[in-house]
Amino acid sequence: MSLWTPREQVSAPGTLADKFGRPMRDLRISVTDRCNFRCTYCMPAEIFGERYEFLPKPEVLTFEEIERLARLFAGLGVNKLRITGGEPLVRAQLPALIKMLTGVKGVEDIALTTNGYLLAKMAADLKAAGLKRVTVSLDSLDDEIAKKMSGRPYGPGSTLEGIEEAERVGLAPIKIDTVVQRGVNDHTLVETARHFKGTGHIVRFIEYMDVGNRNGWKLDQVVTAKEIIELISREFPLEPVDPNYRGEVATRYRYADGTGEIGVIASVSMPFCGDCTRARLTTDGRLVTCLFASGGTDLKSLLRGGASDEEIAAAVSRVWSNRTDRYSELRESNTDWSGPNAEPDAEAGPKRRKKIEMYQIGG
Ligand code: GTP
Ligand code: 5AD
Ligand code: SF4
Ligand code: SF4
Repeated sequence: MSLWTPREQVSAPGTLADKFGRPMRDLRISVTDRCNFRCTYCMPAEIFGERYEFLPKPEVLTFEEIERLARLFAGLGVNKLRITGGEPLVRAQLPALIKMLTGVKGVEDIALTTNGYLLAKMAADLKAAGLKRVTVSLDSLDDEIAKKMSGRPYGPGSTLEGIEEAERVGLAPIKIDTVVQRGVNDHTLVETARHFKGTGHIVRFIEYMDVGNRNGWKLDQVVTAKEIIELISREFPLEPVDPNYRGEVATRYRYADGTGEIGVIASVSMPFCGDCTRARLTTDGRLVTCLFASGGTDLKSLLRGGASDEEIAAAVSRVWSNRTDRYSELRESNTDWSGPNAEPDAEAGPKRRKKIEMYQIGG
């Protein structure tokens, strides 16, 4: 059954809100569509091979363009920036962009989501540039499974070194994102939890999502948050914790013995669209208002066509104030959880609807 209830107006009168009263608070900025991994659930290697054509350089927003947009979004209510990709650390000179973004008035938090492969090398520069914290993706500590899921012959070693270095330079709190796929890494979740228990790092187990059209997603590959919590709490008793802020993506639990916390991101079984305040900017400058959108609004043409700040801000306001996205809620309400062949459907008949790919918007 859908959890959807039209929410009350959450934003102060006169501030930007969408059709359901949701304000725009976060901007997730994809700085590259390239990645040094080929995760099977995001950029399967058989599709994204050596000859795959990523965006040509002229299509990619420059740092100056990103900074200008960040400033305009901040003027409309955004107070949190998250740098994503593809893999953001493959974008040249990334610390210089972070430094520019720290100067944007109204931004209180700048975080980055990375696969961690290049993090050991870059953590100190990122910290010096003003980055506050990192979220590192790590699907398994098991060498073979990590290689299989990352689509590259790299075990978890470099990512673990990256996490260590991020901790050393103070990019905290560090969150570890683990995408869970049934029959692939679900038997290694307890080991992951055990490894980070007591370190202060927060592991978040993510339900495998039907993002994009290329990962061959099936409902029976999803291990639900409920199952994940049961699995972990059998080994380490858990207690629920209140969210840090309204609309937090992860549902929090703490270890009953006081050694830290974990989270589950239950976008499939317990969607959280009602509080979704996230806007997304693609590498080529499109504004996307939902992770599962088919497309976005071209802001690059405005930027490069000589539009004024006011004109660009007005275009963003128009898009956000008309926003009605709640894909996960609709998918959940149309999902038959009764059997392995059940397939969810967010709207009548859009199973094959074209969706933006994860590597284009960074989650
Ligand atoms: P903080 O709470 O600020 O630490 O960050 P976060 O959890 O929003 O960011 P992160 O990049 O770590 O995202 C974690 C997972 O949640 C990723 O798999 C994202 O794709 C997913 N996610 C983030 N935002 C949304 C959203 O709006 N909708 C859905 N369905 N999934 C999201
Ligand atoms: N389902 C769930 N999480 C995903 N991610 C990438 N693709 C998917 C998917 N299909 C995760 C990445 C990273 C975060 C930004 O999103 O592993 O941790
Ligand atoms: Fe790269 Fe992240 Fe996609 Fe994996 S999930 S292929 S690390 S962008
Ligand atoms: Fe927001 Fe779309 Fe995710 Fe719902 S599915 S939480 S509207 S991004």
